[in-house]
Amino acid sequence: MSSAIGNPYDDLLADVYDLMYPDALSGTAEAVEFVAGLCPPTGSVLEFGVGNGRLAVPLSARGLEVFGIDSSSRMLGDLAERDPDGKVKAVEGDFLTASTGRRHEVVLMALNTFFSLPQQEQQIDCLRRMREHLAPGGRVVLEAFDPSPYHRQEGERTTTRFLGPGTVMLESSHVVPSQQLIILVFALLADGPTRTAHTALRYAWPAEIDAMARCAGLRLVERHAGWEREPYGPGSQRHVSVYEAADAAR
Ligand SMILES: C[S@@+](CC[C@H](N)C(=O)[O-])C[C@H]1O[C@@H](n2cnc3c(N)ncnc32)[C@H](O)[C@@H]1O
Repeated sequence: MSSAIGNPYDDLLADVYDLMYPDALSGTAEAVEFVAGLCPPTGSVLEFGVGNGRLAVPLSARGLEVFGIDSSSRMLGDLAERDPDGKVKAVEGDFLTASTGRRHEVVLMALNTFFSLPQQEQQIDCLRRMREHLAPGGRVVLEAFDPSPYHRQEGERTTTRFLGPGTVMLESSHVVPSQQLIILVFALLADGPTRTAHTALRYAWPAEIDAMARCAGLRLVERHAGWEREPYGPGSQRHVSVYEAADAAR
């Protein structure tokens, strides 16, 4: 499964993204507060999978220098609309290969974007790329869901979301040995024909992410159950994990 530029799945979701991930549910304000708190006032943030700038635009409004990498031209088009002055410096490309050519105090990957890489090897490479973009003393921040409910899924599951402009149906099949969910999306939007796209996600438990981070030269500094530093523990449905360079002095 490739993560080639112009993934039709991401392009298709661009149309309904803000409806599927409303700010209140995604904890946008809290995430911005958290990330800004890790970054010195003159520092810079790089977001892998910056999307339509849900986090990047309010972070730049805080006076931070914000960069983003994303492979979806549709998502980046929406970012440009949301950020008409171009304060967020966006690079169109695959985050496994694209670069801003500089280092950043915070390198961020939010909203399960890490799992969009369908192979373990790619996930390790991604953490390595994040490490390479890290300024001395900087932090990698990763937000991901707890995969337990998905891991229990047998066979296929269909979820239907009724949104303002139409309906989005997601059908997922679980491939247990590779921890993958193969997802087929049907979008029936009022203003156009039915569109379909597919993608594969690879989920990982926090302990595996920590081990992959170790392979990439990172070590865990803090883990929370959410952006407001809620305590992480059994039953947490997601985590916000913060890493530093493994060779950083303590
Ligand atoms: C779930 S969205 C998250 C967007 C944004 N970070 C947010 O929190 O709202 C994932 C984003 O990652 C991008 N993406 C997925 N795989 C990518 C890859 N291999 N390289 C670059 N961008 C990628 C998608 O185009 C999409 O915009």
